[in-house]
Order: sequence, then C-alpha cells, then structure tokens
Amino acid sequence: MHVTLLTTLLLTLQVLALALPSYTHTSKRLPSSSLHPRQNATNPSSCDLSSISQPPHTMTPPSSDMTLVLIALGRGTQNYTCAPNAPTPSPIGAVATLYDASCAVATSNAKPADGKGRAGGRGRAKGPCVLPQSAPSIGNHFFSDNTTPVFSIPSLGITALKKAESAPAPDPSVDVPWLLLSAVAEGTTSPVKSIYRLHTKGGVAPGSCEGVAEGETVTVGYEAEYWIYA
Ligand SMILES: *[C@@H]1O[C@H](CO)[C@@H](O)[C@H](O)[C@H]1NC(C)=O
Ligand SMILES: *[C@@H]1O[C@H](CO)[C@@H](O)[C@H](O)[C@H]1NC(C)=O
Repeated sequence: MHVTLLTTLLLTLQVLALALPSYTHTSKRLPSSSLHPRQNATNPSSCDLSSISQPPHTMTPPSSDMTLVLIALGRGTQNYTCAPNAPTPSPIGAVATLYDASCAVATSNAKPADGKGRAGGRGRAKGPCVLPQSAPSIGNHFFSDNTTPVFSIPSLGITALKKAESAPAPDPSVDVPWLLLSAVAEGTTSPVKSIYRLHTKGGVAPGSCEGVAEGETVTVGYEAEYWIYA
C-alpha cells in the first residue's frame, strides 16, 4: 500500500520534472504589436494615398511590401559644371525645397468611374502637380556627394539614396529623366525604401560648355514629384 503510494508519488514528480522544461520551451514571445500605428506614424500626410497609381513608365514598379507614404513636390535647381575642355556640362547634384503634394496628387489622380485605362486622370505629360507658391516647406533635397541624393524631411527622417533606374521624361530635351532611387543604409534614419522622381519639369543641362568658365556652377531650375515609399 505504502509502496504503491510512494511509486505513484515518484512517478508524478518525474512526469512534472519532465514536463517543466517543455513549458519554458513552448512559451513564446507575444506577437509584436500591429503594424498600423507605425505605418500611420510614417505617413505625415492627411490624404489617403492607398489607391493612387503612378503614371506609366518603364521602370520597376514599387514592390508589394512598400507603402506610398508621401508625395513631395520639389522646386529647385539641377547643378552642372564643366570640366576643363569638356564639350558638355556634367551633373554635380541638385538642391530643392520640398512641399507636401500628397493631397494635390490624390485629388487629381482619381481613376475614371469606368475604371478603364488612363490610370490617373491628370495629363500624363503635363509636368508636376501645381501647388500654391505659399505652400509651407516640409523638407529639403540635396546631394551629400555627386552621386548621393539626400531627402531631409523632419516628419520622416533623413534618407540617403543611390540611383537605381531611370527613364526619359516625355519631353527629354527639356525635362530631366524620371528616376527610381533606392535607399542606402549609410546616412539614412527614416523608414523610406524607395523614391521615384516623376513628372519632371525642366532641369536639363545646356547643350554645350561654350562660355562656361572653369569651376563655374551652372544651375538650371526644375520641379519634380517625389513619390516616397516606406
Ligand atoms: C493616424 O494618426 C492620426 C494623428 O496622429 C490619427 O488622428 C488617426 O486616427 C490615425 N489613423 C489611423 C488609421 O490610425
Ligand atoms: C547648387 O546650386 C545652388 C544654387 O541654386 C547652391 O545653393 C547649391 O549649393 C549648389 N549645390 C551643388 C552641389 O553644387
């Protein structure tokens, strides 16, 4: 009788001892909180960008894991210089002030009711959206070296990028190419992954270096929409 009880007790203890480690193994970390607050926090715009489509172009479209968080209008200059004896100017970067164009594009981008063709109602070759001159600035675009465009937008952080792809603008003799820029880790504090430069207006270099002094910076005014994905 006593022996049976003792055996039962020992067996129970053994089972418990065996079971204990598996409790610690099966206890899992709680799933991290939903992504929505973070996505919301990265979107400084009050307009819904979820159904906006890019104008047609030949570059790789944004991947499905990316979210359009902001469309910025840039107004500034593309800068060029002439190396000694060079026939044509070469690019040395750009500077631009950025404005929130999300709502302007969202309102003009609505698809026709029949949903057929003509994605984006706005004229495709008509250049960037129009904002009032008095629109408040949301940040700046500049280059940290000749090949590294930077976007500093306080509501998003700083994004340093490299040119990944380009496509000629509809009027390439006047308007700088459309671009796909990919974020690089060095210098980036924002969650931004890609920026498309679309609907460019102006900015093309003069055709020749004639009359340009050595070391002189040639600045050409331009505007563009920057479609920013995180
Ligand atoms: C996004 O943030 C704004 C302001 O912080 C808030 O009013 C809004 O409800 C949020 N939207 C979502 C979908 O969480
Ligand atoms: C480009 O030109 C602007 C003047 O429009 C100037 O402020 C800026 O420093 C120049 N940047 C470069 C990289 O040359």
